[in-house]
Amino acid sequence: MTSRRQFLAGVSACLAGPEIFVRESRAQSADSRIEVLLDEPIATIAPEIYSHFVEQLGGVVYDGIWVGERSKVANVGGVRKQLVEALRKVNPGAIRWPGGCFADSYDWRDGVGPADKRPKRTNFWIDAGEWPAGARREGPACYDPGQFGTIEFARFCRLAGGQPYFAANLRSLPAQDFWRWVEYCNSPEGSTTLAEQRAADGERKPLNVRYWGVGNESWGCGGNFTPEEYSTEFRRFTAWVPDYGVQLRLVGSGPNGDDASWTRRFFEKMAQKGAVGRVWGWALHHYAWNVTGGRISDWFKAKGDALKFPPEEYYEITRQASVMESMIASHWSIMGEFDRAHRVKLVVDEWGAWYAAGSEPFEGALLGQQSTMRDAVLASSTLDVFNRNADKVAMANVAQLVNCLQSLFLAHEDKFCVTPTYHVFALYAGHQGAQSLRTVLSAPEVSYTRNSQPAKVAGISASASVRGKRVILTVTNPSLDQVREAEIAVRGAPLASARATALAAGDVHAHNSFEAPDAVQPREQTVAGGRWPLVHRFPPASVTKLEIELG
Ligand code: AHR
Repeated sequence: MTSRRQFLAGVSACLAGPEIFVRESRAQSADSRIEVLLDEPIATIAPEIYSHFVEQLGGVVYDGIWVGERSKVANVGGVRKQLVEALRKVNPGAIRWPGGCFADSYDWRDGVGPADKRPKRTNFWIDAGEWPAGARREGPACYDPGQFGTIEFARFCRLAGGQPYFAANLRSLPAQDFWRWVEYCNSPEGSTTLAEQRAADGERKPLNVRYWGVGNESWGCGGNFTPEEYSTEFRRFTAWVPDYGVQLRLVGSGPNGDDASWTRRFFEKMAQKGAVGRVWGWALHHYAWNVTGGRISDWFKAKGDALKFPPEEYYEITRQASVMESMIASHWSIMGEFDRAHRVKLVVDEWGAWYAAGSEPFEGALLGQQSTMRDAVLASSTLDVFNRNADKVAMANVAQLVNCLQSLFLAHEDKFCVTPTYHVFALYAGHQGAQSLRTVLSAPEVSYTRNSQPAKVAGISASASVRGKRVILTVTNPSLDQVREAEIAVRGAPLASARATALAAGDVHAHNSFEAPDAVQPREQTVAGGRWPLVHRFPPASVTKLEIELG
């Protein structure tokens, strides 16, 4: 069990960097085992598991992504250049926009046509309770200027190398507006009035948008529907939508948290109507909020701080993140009752950490928060869950891309930095499109105190994939004070070589900022041994990628 004193002692012992921390931590012999089973492939890891989420919220779009063509900030057609260049490097699968809750208030027509003629509209988030006390309610976070619309978003996706994933408004617009949006995006050159409008807006050729969310959180901000009502709406919205040769992948709005009855009742109704086949993906949302000592009804007030947190809150976030695995299993099993062939896949289109207000990168960045090594541990262990469930999860979108919740980037005016979560996405990028392999883990659990009661989290998280003769094994050691020494073997082929890259910092609170953008960054490590098992030491609160060449 880690006491507060041990934790602080560990922190002060390792301020000089991860290598020193490793040396000064308690000496151990191998206490863990990781076995990768080459002959037990799970499925191809969809590149879309490494997808992102961009909502018209706080400083995500305006300032984060869109600076405008006339800005002194380096840009490509109005889009922040540094951001697209960095995003491109982590190979984004898809990018979801314009929400979130914002989506069910958005009229796509407000964001097309000449930029100077577009209306300014009140943003969904203007009255949100999450605004920090005293924050000024002004600017694009409160009054959306419509400058970043369909075409700007599609161009941003193209620049970044990700596929657009639109979230349609099901709460406050009729179904016809959804079809018209599809028509605007996808109808062939010169074929319709909306295709002509698209051409006038600068895109003659169809945008060929494949991914469409049909509402967002339809049990809440997306309309307060019952699952049966939502099933009716879903069918109305998706009936006879022309696809213009693009096989539309329609995503249904899944449960509030882990609410099994929402999933069961929706699919039951869809099955009665013979319409399950219309759903391509079923959305799950899961945030880790570090509510310790409080009831979930108090989460809003009881969330912890992004930067200042005791061990209990660190482990609690890790534990909450681990719920993802059981959520996937339970909703997958319910869907199987109505879709035996499991044609419908899971789309975890919002996931990440959500802390209390107070660490926003700038005023107006609603839901903006700093991101530490704790968030890197959350990101890596969550991505491991998706990799291990590659047969079930077809897409996952971390919330959100920039200046909001578990961001990969912080950006304001001419200031820019990447977060530790960005580095995790870079370490994991090689898993995309590779074959996920079953990985058997054995490690001592980590004990901590939760609400004065003993609690535990898994001692190690990992996932593995193979492409040709190269295996990528990603390993997270969540312990704050224990080095994990693991014996590693890939069963089914000899070892040729191995190298490692680790993301670790002496202090789990370490983070990057505009002033210190490289405080946390990955470093190469040597891997000892030329045959199985390899023995490797994983520093406390670290994320490691092992690249293994098989003989
Ligand atoms: O990501 C912030 C918000 O969280 C989204 O708008 C909503 O879908 C979810 O509740």
